[in-house]
Amino acid sequence: MIGRATAGLEVSITGLGCKVPERVMTNDELSQFVDTSDEWIRERTGIRERRIASQEEALSDLALPAARAALAQAGVEGAEIDLIIVATVTPDMAFPSTAAIVADALGATDAAAYDLSAGCTGFMYALAQGYGMLAGGLARRALVIGGDVLSRLFDWTDRSTLVLFGDGAGAVVLEAVPQQGFIGFELGADGAGGESLWLPGSGSRIFDEADRHIKMNGREVFKFATRILVQSAEDVLAKCELTIDDVDLYIPHQANVRIIDHATRKLGVPSDRVVINVDRYGNTSSGSIPLALADALADDRLRPGMVVLMTGMGAGLTWGSAIMRWTMDGAAA
Ligand code: ACO
Repeated sequence: MIGRATAGLEVSITGLGCKVPERVMTNDELSQFVDTSDEWIRERTGIRERRIASQEEALSDLALPAARAALAQAGVEGAEIDLIIVATVTPDMAFPSTAAIVADALGATDAAAYDLSAGCTGFMYALAQGYGMLAGGLARRALVIGGDVLSRLFDWTDRSTLVLFGDGAGAVVLEAVPQQGFIGFELGADGAGGESLWLPGSGSRIFDEADRHIKMNGREVFKFATRILVQSAEDVLAKCELTIDDVDLYIPHQANVRIIDHATRKLGVPSDRVVINVDRYGNTSSGSIPLALADALADDRLRPGMVVLMTGMGAGLTWGSAIMRWTMDGAAA
């Protein structure tokens, strides 16, 4: 799916908030569980540490503070929100949706609320849906949340997955704005690659060998990621009649520094226009892009008028890009 935003119906991000668990887990700590080392993890992934939720923390415990911060920044009350989408593969439970739990806590009694499952690409899919609902006149103010508590799915004996992921969530408010906001989107899925990154036995299909842990073919995902980050970005740029030189800030999914470096080189993005924070958070799945946006804002690297290119990719296999002109003033809450 690819499309340009409708001219005259401008929608943008008007508030941004994030929340990560307090608990920091370093590479050295992980080496107590599995045969790995800080050196191996930093060399192959660029990750130094990640945040890990406590036993009491579920996704909504991260999503709610992130949402409250985003609402406060936008100057919007929970009751004024009429759409809540939570992109996640680790909801509090299968049902009720985490979005419904968040809506209740925020007093968003007029909101449609649902969870969306698109792996690590979830936030990009949810952004596109939020945009579409506002541009189509179905909603006036949307809260789009991306977040995961992937540590619940860790196999603490599997070094090939354990070292890659972390927990975190981010939220944005979407509203109509007077100036240009979203410019275009490109989203896709290739179910044929589904078994490269999956959680067999987590739904209605019965598997002989099911367990509750992430299973991944790292090399296949690596090949997919390096190809799709480039292709999706090029496709959406072409659709919007822009080139990479028009992009002021590039925010790729934070999975692995080697994947990001590859995409950056192929696309020809100067390194000072790339946001990288995977070193501090690991791969937080749907939380990855909003957390990177928040860091860019905090570092004063994201200012009104800048063209921002975001690309996510993940389980499905799925991918998604968005281009927007940043309209919001001020750092994330
Ligand atoms: N510590 C030490 N050694 C390890 C570790 C570890 N944590 N993990 C694997 N190894 C070993 C392997 O067993 C292998 O040993 P062998 O040669 O004796 O068999 C060796 O290191 C090399 O393994 P490779 O898999 O070839 O290592 P590679 O350079 O491909 O890096 C990695 C592995 C980091 C997982 C890489 O393939 C990768 O990043 N893939 C993409 C994963 C990803 O990003 N997934 C999520 C994206 S989608 C989403 O966000 C949900």
